[in-house]
Amino acid sequence: MNSAKHGTEGKPKKKRRAVTALLAGLLLAFCACGAKETPESTNQSKEGTETMTEEAGGSEDRRDWYEQMLEASVISTGTNGRLEKVLDRMEKGESVSVALLGGSVTEGAGAADFKESYADLFVGGLQKLYPEANISCVNAGLSGTNSALGMMRYERDAVEPAGKQPDILLVEFAVNDYQEPTDGRAYESLLRTVLQEDNAPAVILVFSVFQTKWNLQEEYIPMGEWYGLPMVSIKNAIEQPYAEGNLTDDKFFADEYHPTSYGHTVMADCLMEMTEQAADNPSSLTIAAVPMDTVTLADFAGTRLLTAENADGAEVSAGSFFGTDTQVQEFERTGEASFPDNWMHEGGNGSEAFRAELSCRKILLNYKTSSSEEYGRVLVYLDGEQVAELNGYAKDGWNNSNVALIADGKENEPHVLEIRMAEGDEDKKFTLLAIGCGSFEPNGLLKVYEDNFPVGIALPNSVLRKPEAYEDVIRNNFNSITCENEMKPDALLDQGASQMNLEETYTHAVVKFGNCKPAIDFALEYGMKIRLHTLVWHSQTPRWFFTEDYSKDGKLADRETMLLRMENYIADVLGYFEENYPGLIYAVDVANEAFDVGNGDENGIRMKDNLWYETVGSDYYYQAFVFARKYASEDMKLFYNDYGCMDKAELILRNLEQAKAEGLIDGIGMQSHLSTDDNIQFKFMLAVKQFCEAGYEVQATELDIGVKEKTDSAFLIQARKYRSFFKNLKRLQEEGYPITGITVWGIDDAHTWRKDEYGLLFDENRKPKPAYYGAMLDASIPDVE
Ligand code: XIL
Repeated sequence: MNSAKHGTEGKPKKKRRAVTALLAGLLLAFCACGAKETPESTNQSKEGTETMTEEAGGSEDRRDWYEQMLEASVISTGTNGRLEKVLDRMEKGESVSVALLGGSVTEGAGAADFKESYADLFVGGLQKLYPEANISCVNAGLSGTNSALGMMRYERDAVEPAGKQPDILLVEFAVNDYQEPTDGRAYESLLRTVLQEDNAPAVILVFSVFQTKWNLQEEYIPMGEWYGLPMVSIKNAIEQPYAEGNLTDDKFFADEYHPTSYGHTVMADCLMEMTEQAADNPSSLTIAAVPMDTVTLADFAGTRLLTAENADGAEVSAGSFFGTDTQVQEFERTGEASFPDNWMHEGGNGSEAFRAELSCRKILLNYKTSSSEEYGRVLVYLDGEQVAELNGYAKDGWNNSNVALIADGKENEPHVLEIRMAEGDEDKKFTLLAIGCGSFEPNGLLKVYEDNFPVGIALPNSVLRKPEAYEDVIRNNFNSITCENEMKPDALLDQGASQMNLEETYTHAVVKFGNCKPAIDFALEYGMKIRLHTLVWHSQTPRWFFTEDYSKDGKLADRETMLLRMENYIADVLGYFEENYPGLIYAVDVANEAFDVGNGDENGIRMKDNLWYETVGSDYYYQAFVFARKYASEDMKLFYNDYGCMDKAELILRNLEQAKAEGLIDGIGMQSHLSTDDNIQFKFMLAVKQFCEAGYEVQATELDIGVKEKTDSAFLIQARKYRSFFKNLKRLQEEGYPITGITVWGIDDAHTWRKDEYGLLFDENRKPKPAYYGAMLDASIPDVE
């Protein structure tokens, strides 16, 4: 570890931590042997002695108050491994970008010069500590602004100037959020948004403090803990020095809100203290997953910034707000206007409403307040109803930003936003600086694979009947359902009705759809598509369907009859969906598990326990495709589905040749019931390529990866396998292989057909397993199988 120090004026030179930590360890061992500490022994070596007394519980008084202050500021060095990773990169001399997002303190207010601001001093301190590193910095502090605006500004102010995501983002809103309209949700949304960036940035929370010694850290520490973030509290830091008279307001505060240059130095030193502690005692060598759950809610994640210049996706007619206000707050550092492309009602131009049509669930308005009485009030209407009155005049306004929450819904909806001058204020001014437009956007598997393929989930009715518990998981991760059982022949065929009028039903058994209604309703509600599984299968097709009188023990019907029954069944099932739910079914498993070397005939066509084979003969699966093609609509892709595809790709390809040549089949469903012993990267993917190269599209239709024992290490291997599975299919898709879906065979380990194999992404308590983060390609799961 490099020991260059951030030592600043008034601050004693610090010891080299790596060394002292070691010495302290030795001393602890020494003390444990009963040796007494003497004043001489603590004075012997400059290095390490102070730490020795600390660690051994020696007198606190001997320690320097400044140093104690720095130590008191460190709430956490973080537990998610991200800061350590970036520090390691700096140590190696790599390029690292730092961004700071916050209010005036971050901008540098109170310091005599920007160079004396905590932001500059901290980045300078990092550079001193890692002289080889190439550190760049974006300061996105903006006076008087809160985290709701921070969420809106993040992309524009913290990312775009650098042209890339920051490697370290400092977040400083614990004082300005006293006027924040989302109760911390915007703050958490911002944290999650950044943590989920591909480059796994380190997010550091800085809790600055007002002169009253107030800040919001009590609200934000739980979030920092939840996401394992490093946290530094200036409130904690200065408490003791104030009590002991080492710090006073005169020394620390330039005014009610802002530290002096000295105060800024303290802040930077606190941050450096935390950084050095993290470097010396890495909490974790691997990056922890971003937990799927939230502390409050992160429902403002991805809120977009709409301005007069760029209101993408919204239909805006400015009405009498067609002017542009040039008197808006500037970024202190650059002198650039913070929101130059605004909508201004200048007064004297009529009072036509500003109107915007947008599709979203959250709307935030950023408006200017001025101390000039020329500014007046507006009324804000959402979908025709007045929801707010905003005043552009404020006694203490200084052309600054103010954020109001206007829409706070759960679902994306089309909205009409109207803003008009309040009665009597038509000739006054009002400036709308920007609109924040927040839509629901999935942040799980659907986000990762949105450009690749649908991600499906097999669900049984037991889950579908009480979906609330799974709502978030489903919305974020899956856009396709397969009924685990409810669309199989034994669920759709109606024995009673078929037997009732045998003359009519002899070649045309009756079907019913009540069993799969919950899945259909669910899919419609959540905007998901359905994989229909499965039409013709030896299993889960009742014997009565094959007998002459539809009785369980009756005599088996002949080929001709069974072909008619097969045709009618397929026509009825596909016809039902086509008629009632056009477009809902995108893939159909026409024939399932028809080939099996061990249980098959000379061509590997399954004979064992297979009444289709017994009644129709070895071409039964081919006939199924003939009928399916006849009755399927264009958007229903026809699949042959099977297990063990890695070992029987040739067999499958050979037996499907005729159907393929006749255009009866579109794809091959690889069930993918795997175990952690399976070689995914090479063997499984080889089969995928073989199918694709033979002209089929490929879907993984029933993925689960079983473990033999329920241990952490087994779950980590499972996670790597999941990662490999998803990652390789994504890669192949991107290379042009027609991979058109992955479906996981069950929602959690409490709902799985492979009991005691814990093969799914979520555990019995619906918590995401490492497997989930593997499938997410999360940085927490190693990229090797
Ligand atoms: C399984 C279901 O998961 C179980 O609930 C049911 O008892 C048996 O069938 N191959 C398939 C799936 O094609 O339909 C099977 O589903 C798993 C193996």
